[in-house]
Amino acid sequence: METTPWTSGRATRSPFVMPSGLRGRLAGRLMLRMNKQDEMVDLLDIRAGEQVLEVGYGPGGLIRRLARTPAGRVCGVDPSPEMREMALKRGTRADLRLGTAEDTGFGDAEFDCAVSVNTVGLWPSLEAGLDELHRVTRPGGRVAIAWHGGRRPSRVTRHLTLPDDQLERVEREMRGRFSDVTRRELSDLTVFVAHRR
Ligand SMILES: C[S@@+](CC[C@H](N)C(=O)[O-])C[C@H]1O[C@@H](n2cnc3c(N)ncnc32)[C@H](O)[C@@H]1O
Repeated sequence: METTPWTSGRATRSPFVMPSGLRGRLAGRLMLRMNKQDEMVDLLDIRAGEQVLEVGYGPGGLIRRLARTPAGRVCGVDPSPEMREMALKRGTRADLRLGTAEDTGFGDAEFDCAVSVNTVGLWPSLEAGLDELHRVTRPGGRVAIAWHGGRRPSRVTRHLTLPDDQLERVEREMRGRFSDVTRRELSDLTVFVAHRR
């Protein structure tokens, strides 16, 4: 499957961008190994009964952890059937669906918390993805968007960081839609956290 991320403007079939087939499954294994998710779970601080959405769950590293929090409901969308299969493999109570940041298929204001890790740079349209996350988050709810970076990116993920102007664009577009936008540097992720007004 081909897609054109807004960050490059070039069509790609990279298995890390749109994982499919055997290459996609191999990429999924690497994502599980490379992309540490524990700090994100701590940052999100999910409270009992909350409705949580993860956009672009990939092989499921984060969403399986989210399903072990006291959240009321944990849902996820990812466009790749191979990633859905991998994420479901070890069993999870999360409701895993096919979908994208720009079209999650969920209703207005359904979620207390929406999160996306290492996908924002792959969306075809930053604006359409942020509009959709805004739509599905309830007023007062929070949104966290993370990308490779942080204080100590690994040798591999160091090459995947976004240039300053693109990070600034993410932050600016978030400020146009959400309130209290803050930038946090985790050990290997740069995260923008915000609230829906
Ligand atoms: C590099 S992987 C990251 C997976 C996982 N979040 C992680 O941190 O390990 C990128 C994921 O984004 C998904 N993806 C690609 N385009 C997307 C889009 N427009 N909306 C949501 N997810 C997308 C891919 O299918 C893939 O599972």
